[in-house]
Amino acid sequence: MNVLNILILAMGLILGGALVADPIFASSIKKIKLPSPSFKGELSVEEAIKERRSQRNFLDRPLSLSQVSQILWAAQGITEEGGFKRAAPSAGALYPLEIYLAVRNVEGLEKGVYHYHPQDHMVSFVLKGNYQDPLARACLSQSFVAASPLSIIIAAEYERTTIKYGERGVRYVLIEVGHVGQNICLQAVALGLATCPVGAFTDEEVSRVLELPKRYRPLYVLAVGYAS
Ligand SMILES: Cc1cc2nc3c(=O)[nH]c(=O)nc-3n(C[C@H](O)[C@H](O)[C@H](O)COP(=O)(O)O)c2cc1C
Repeated sequence: MNVLNILILAMGLILGGALVADPIFASSIKKIKLPSPSFKGELSVEEAIKERRSQRNFLDRPLSLSQVSQILWAAQGITEEGGFKRAAPSAGALYPLEIYLAVRNVEGLEKGVYHYHPQDHMVSFVLKGNYQDPLARACLSQSFVAASPLSIIIAAEYERTTIKYGERGVRYVLIEVGHVGQNICLQAVALGLATCPVGAFTDEEVSRVLELPKRYRPLYVLAVGYAS
């Protein structure tokens, strides 16, 4: 590599780092840094458990980027100081789950599909447009999915776990989705939001709508928003 190439590479890294910090550049770059999560809330775990209820009527009110950041952290954020372990337990710490967002109304994020990267606490912009409508159709036309400002889709790459645990790994992955789903539900309540978990959908349709990589299987959809 000659000096010119090194200079171009360095410029790219500096420019890329500056842009990544600003959500306004969502359409022109691939990754958006999320605000840091908070480790103190206003509701106790007991209160959040008591208050959680599946809600199917949402206000047409935007979520803030901080709320989305907090929910993603509770789902799969890194919670080990200087390490890689996450907010939800994982068999063998193999972390087979991937989190996607279908954004319709979130401040600082344009409408589209995003993919969460726990290690950087960033989301990458995957698809542009309102994907809540086709996602709702893939969820057997459950209209509250389309009406919610945000859907969280949890997908799994089973092989990350089955490579170690064989057939039993399938059970472990499904258990892990439950852990993550509950973290999302409780964190949402703690932020004054509501969720509705959705298991009734056509896997192939959800994969097609979100253009998921073939190796990922969608397992759970959670509609998130302000309850009306
Ligand atoms: C795995 C799973 C799948 C679900 N799928 C749907 C669904 O597709 N549509 C829906 O409206 N609710 C769905 N729910 C929500 C349940 O209907 C709800 O949890 C149940 O009625 C109990 O009410 P609660 O969540 O308010 O306590 C699902 C819940 C779970 C745990």
